[in-house]
Amino acid sequence: MTARHLPPPPLPLTTERLMLRPLTPADADDVQRYWGDPEVARYLPFGPLDAEATRAKVERLAANTDPQRTDEVLSLAMVHAGRVEGDLMLRLGRGPDDGPPSVAEVGWVTHPEVRGIGLAAEGAGAVVDLAFGHYRCHRVTAVLDPRNTASARLCERLGMRLEGVTRRDHWARGEWSDTAVYGLLREEWADLS
Ligand SMILES: CC(C)(COP(=O)(O)OP(=O)(O)OC[C@H]1O[C@@H](n2cnc3c(N)ncnc32)[C@H](O)[C@@H]1OP(=O)(O)O)[C@@H](O)C(=O)NCCC(=O)NCCS
Repeated sequence: MTARHLPPPPLPLTTERLMLRPLTPADADDVQRYWGDPEVARYLPFGPLDAEATRAKVERLAANTDPQRTDEVLSLAMVHAGRVEGDLMLRLGRGPDDGPPSVAEVGWVTHPEVRGIGLAAEGAGAVVDLAFGHYRCHRVTAVLDPRNTASARLCERLGMRLEGVTRRDHWARGEWSDTAVYGLLREEWADLS
């Protein structure tokens, strides 16, 4: 670890109803229950994935527990009542002069059976706290298709603001789609608590 690197994140994270820990290859079957669902994948940048593709992707993601060192995303399993019911993503951008990260992007997906009870908000909130608290970022974003209203509501529940919409900027599932950018600055995050 160089002076420019922060220590690895303090994992697992625990919230009232969740344990957030790195994905492991053994999670592939649990994850396949929702990554394989076309409705779940509607606005995801990948999928729906079959069992083999899920296994390969979970194995790749499981290898990354320190995203600052590996330049890969941190993928955390949302363990609820002993089962992986969703996963969360944290992507760190490089800081100035190759220093510690200063901007981060978060992402999320949950199994349809655990929707509407605030689990995603609880888990995503812990990841936002990790970005600002542990990684000391000054800005956290989420990008999504504006038609993904559940995800947009989640951003708002996390205190994020809609900063703009770029029109027809990415090709997804046979059509050009818009991208909404939601952002939260460090001082806004500090005011939330
Ligand atoms: C985006 C996604 C994770 C949101 O899941 P969700 O279940 O809507 O989110 P939450 O678990 O935070 O639940 C929110 C609802 O629970 C309600 N709720 C109940 N108890 C709650 C609590 N203790 N805390 C917060 N919310 C609570 C809220 O009122 C909220 O309802 P509302 O959205 O009508 O206001 C989910 O829809 C998903 O996985 N979608 C598919 C994957 C995807 O598109 N990912 C994003 C790609 S950009």
